[in-house]
Parts: sequence; C-alpha cells; structure tokens
Amino acid sequence: MAVRLAIEADAADVVEIIHQVGREERYLVNEGEAPPVAVQARQIGAMSNGSSPTRLWVATDQANKVVGMLEMMRGSFRKNAHTATLAMALMPSARGQGLGTALMQAALKWADDASVLKVSLSVFETNEVALALYRKCGFVVEAIRTHQFFIGGKYVAEVQMARWNPARTDVP
Ligand SMILES: CC(C)(COP(=O)(O)OP(=O)(O)OC[C@H]1O[C@@H](n2cnc3c(N)ncnc32)[C@H](O)[C@@H]1OP(=O)(O)O)[C@@H](O)C(=O)NCCC(=O)NCCS
Repeated sequence: MAVRLAIEADAADVVEIIHQVGREERYLVNEGEAPPVAVQARQIGAMSNGSSPTRLWVATDQANKVVGMLEMMRGSFRKNAHTATLAMALMPSARGQGLGTALMQAALKWADDASVLKVSLSVFETNEVALALYRKCGFVVEAIRTHQFFIGGKYVAEVQMARWNPARTDVP
C-alpha cells in the first residue's frame, strides 16, 4: 500500500471511486455522478504541469490498484490563496487500514510546505470514522450547519472543520 500524487493513467480508477462512494450516499453530497474519464485525466494533467491550484493524491493497494483519493484545492485568488479545501474517499474494501491517515499526512505535508495557513473541509455529522480521522489530524470544528442535508429519511448537520499550519506563527 502506498500514497502518491495522481498521474493521468489513474483517471479511470479515480472516476470509479467518485462514482462508487457517491452511490453509497452516506458520505458524500455527490450521489454517484462522476466526470468522464477523459475530463478527469485532463484535470490530473493540469495538476501535473502546474496550471491548476488543485492537487490529487491517490492510495494504492497491494496489487497497485488505486483504491483511495484525496483532492486538495488551494484558493486561486490573492484573497484566499492562503487557504485550501479538501475532500477524500476510499473504496469500501480499503477502509480502516490506515490509508485515509496516510493520504491526509501527505496532503497536510504539502500544504504546510506550501505555507498554506488553513485547510478546511466539510463532513456529515453522522460520519464518525471521518470525524475521528480529522480530529486525529488536528482539525477542529469551525461551524455546524444544522439540517443542511437530508439523508436516509433524516436531517443531517454539516460539520465544517479546519486545521491551521503549525509553522505559521506569524499570523495574529
Ligand atoms: C473516512 C475515510 C477517508 C477514513 O479513512 P480510513 O483509511 O478508513 O481511516 P484510517 O484507517 O486511516 O483511520 C483513521 C481513524 O479513523 C478512526 N476509525 C477508523 N476505522 C474506524 C471504525 N471502523 N470505527 C470507528 N473509528 C474508526 C480511528 O480513529 C482511526 O485512527 P486510529 O486507527 O489511529 O485510531 C474512509 O473511511 C472513507 O473513505 N470513508 C467513506 C468516504 C468518506 O467518508 N469520505 C469522507 C467524507 S467527509
């Protein structure tokens, strides 16, 4: 198992993860929609050649298949270039084995090295595993938006979390 930056050849696996986890409906706002593989490949290409502020990491299993992903989108304006937001997902068979932690560590190292001040994310209040991972990685709750989603017949709050760059002691 390993974590690395995505390459264009990973596009089909990445699209499959977005599709599969979206269809589970319990974790992502997306309900199974996913971009065409060619569009995803172009996006990864733009990340690789530096023309996109987004970074995508993938996690692979023992067979070297891509089974997880974490996308980090840095703000593209002067107003918000000090921030980034992230989203992540693993295929069901890859969960609970430390891959989410490994993806997060890689992404936060990049953010810290790039002097990103604040990394934010959004998670359903019902997603206990994700909440545990985020707390473990230094994220704290910034806001809770009640009744923001309706999932499986119940209203669910959106938890907005953020983690500050520990090296940025220059910020008041
Ligand atoms: C959420 C997700 C990314 C976490 O990744 P993961 O690889 O499964 O998590 P890890 O194995 O790295 O474990 C991270 C922490 O979560 C907690 N955790 C993991 N599995 C758990 C379980 N079955 N029950 C309760 N807590 C659990 C633990 O605190 C663990 O840290 P520890 O092992 O050091 O104690 C992954 O489960 C996933 O993709 N889930 C579906 C999609 C999703 O929820 N995406 C996030 C949307 S905001």
